[in-house]
Amino acid sequence: MPNHLIVEGPQLGVLSIKLHRPEALNALNTALLAELADTLIAAQDDAEVRTVVITGSRRAFAAGADIKEMAERDLVGMLEDPRQRHWSTITRFSKPIIAAVNGFCLGGGCELAMHADILIAGEDARFGQPEINLGIMPGAGGTQRLVRAVGKALATQMVLTGEPISARRALEAGLVSEITQPELTVERAIAVAETIAAKAPLAVRLAREALHKAEDTDLATGLRFERHAFTLLAGTKDREEGIHAFQEKRPATFNGH
Ligand code: HXC
Repeated sequence: MPNHLIVEGPQLGVLSIKLHRPEALNALNTALLAELADTLIAAQDDAEVRTVVITGSRRAFAAGADIKEMAERDLVGMLEDPRQRHWSTITRFSKPIIAAVNGFCLGGGCELAMHADILIAGEDARFGQPEINLGIMPGAGGTQRLVRAVGKALATQMVLTGEPISARRALEAGLVSEITQPELTVERAIAVAETIAAKAPLAVRLAREALHKAEDTDLATGLRFERHAFTLLAGTKDREEGIHAFQEKRPATFNGH
């Protein structure tokens, strides 16, 4: 049983994971990251899980890596840091993740949120990479994913000043796709996750992979990948079902084949 997470579901295909270390504003210590990685490994193999929602508390999604724990690791300790393995597990997870973000979303917390496919934020959420204030820098993708999400100008300002941005600014910059009243953030994220969970799983998986390609390849390679993936889906039962359901004017029922 996880100690630092509250896991619910899957319900209607959605697994809900709530970060729960209230005494430290959900700072990501090794134990929490290990529990998150283990939960995702189990979710990866569970066909009932189609999408995952990750959320924190009303006050904080996560205030970063655990600074107390980080202080105990020197250079060699950092090189052998087991947290790196857990981050890799999170990166490799192949089902859509929706982050529902309220309050502080800082440092490693912001980096975790950026591992999500879709970010939905409460209007008082604050996104930032304050590592520079500690004499360090982002280490779980903060420089790379933030540039891709908000562009070089704003990412540079955030990483070099350490100053956070508001949810509204994050929406304008493209880091989040929607903002909601804070009381409704999780509900809205679950609704989006349920919508995706009802689609054909193989189509979701390949569309997601193609979207990821847009971030790390040139246009021609990305377009080739898209075409291959599109063609591959022609061999699925779910495509047949989707097209028949449209023609028969009824809702489609997809089963992942
Ligand atoms: C450990 C933390 C923490 C953190 C907060 N706490 N953030 N503990 N690691 N990252 C603890 C505080 O010590 C305190 O516990 C309790 O949570 C409440 O925090 P307060 O500071 O009292 O709350 P508040 O005054 O409201 O200020 C909130 C805050 C501030 C602005 C978010 O806590 C803050 O600046 N936190 C650090 C943010 C940060 O620098 N993050 C980046 C970390 S480096 P006690 O017991 O003391 O009362 C990082 C690198 C990633 O993320 C690298 C990945 C590989």
